[in-house]
Amino acid sequence: MIAVVNVTKSYRGKNGPIAALDGANFRVRVGDFIIILGRSGTGKSTLLGIMGGLLRPSSGEVFLDGKSIWTLDERTRARLRAEKHGFVFQNASVIPSLTVLENVLLPQAFLPRAHAANLSRAKSLVEQIGLGERLHAYPDQLSGGEKRRVAIASSLMNDPPFLLADEPTGDLDRETESEIMNLFLSLWRNGKTIVMVTHSHQLASDANRVFKMNDGRILELPGQNGTHKHIDCELDSPGEAPINVREVPRP
Ligand SMILES: Nc1ncnc2c1ncn2[C@@H]1O[C@H](COP(=O)(O)OP(=O)(O)OP(=O)(O)O)[C@@H](O)[C@H]1O
Ligand SMILES: [Mg+2]
Repeated sequence: MIAVVNVTKSYRGKNGPIAALDGANFRVRVGDFIIILGRSGTGKSTLLGIMGGLLRPSSGEVFLDGKSIWTLDERTRARLRAEKHGFVFQNASVIPSLTVLENVLLPQAFLPRAHAANLSRAKSLVEQIGLGERLHAYPDQLSGGEKRRVAIASSLMNDPPFLLADEPTGDLDRETESEIMNLFLSLWRNGKTIVMVTHSHQLASDANRVFKMNDGRILELPGQNGTHKHIDCELDSPGEAPINVREVPRP
């Protein structure tokens, strides 16, 4: 379980502090597939970074399986992060000078228990994403969708329970977007807990919980019989009715 409690984050800007998060409260249950929607600049990447232990909040706490991660020392937090979280960062996130196989292997470098089984695990992940024939290709020899699949395979290398994906289909065509989404859905069915940021209301209909970020706060959108098949596509319009959303209960 991940709980984000009263988290704020302000960045230093040229003309004073920029409030990216303003009292965010958010709880991820094991087994959730959460989609976070919201306009550009509303704090989605900031929230993912803070809940994943990558970015220190200005105030508030993040609990991971009951541990307050921002009170741990950096070394312990890095270890926890490598074990518990798979990250798919906004905008591709593969290393151009490493091959497909090397990119997928990379996260195990952050855990002390590196062993030979890693190589066969990495190969089998590359096969699962359909690039078994391209193990030694470099990212510039791959399409955008293939690179994204490598980034996803890499996030799975340490077999983390949580996957945090920031617009993993952002710059892809519809067909590739749906391929990537199917990959996430099969990972979800196989037990991963997923938090995905996207601008696509279409994708949100497949999640079991949908949230929306607005001015550094996060609200859960009510589902219909546990699904979100009928999300109002006008939610991003300026005249959005607050009646459509409800505040997430404080953990
Ligand atoms: N390192 C930084 N320094 C200063 N301001 C930042 C920094 N990172 C983000 N911001 C600002 O904080 C706010 C939230 O940014 P964030 O990247 O979390 O938004 P986002 O919802 O992920 O946007 P997008 O949909 O465009 O990715 C924005 O106003 C952004 O300009
Ligand atoms: Mg972002």
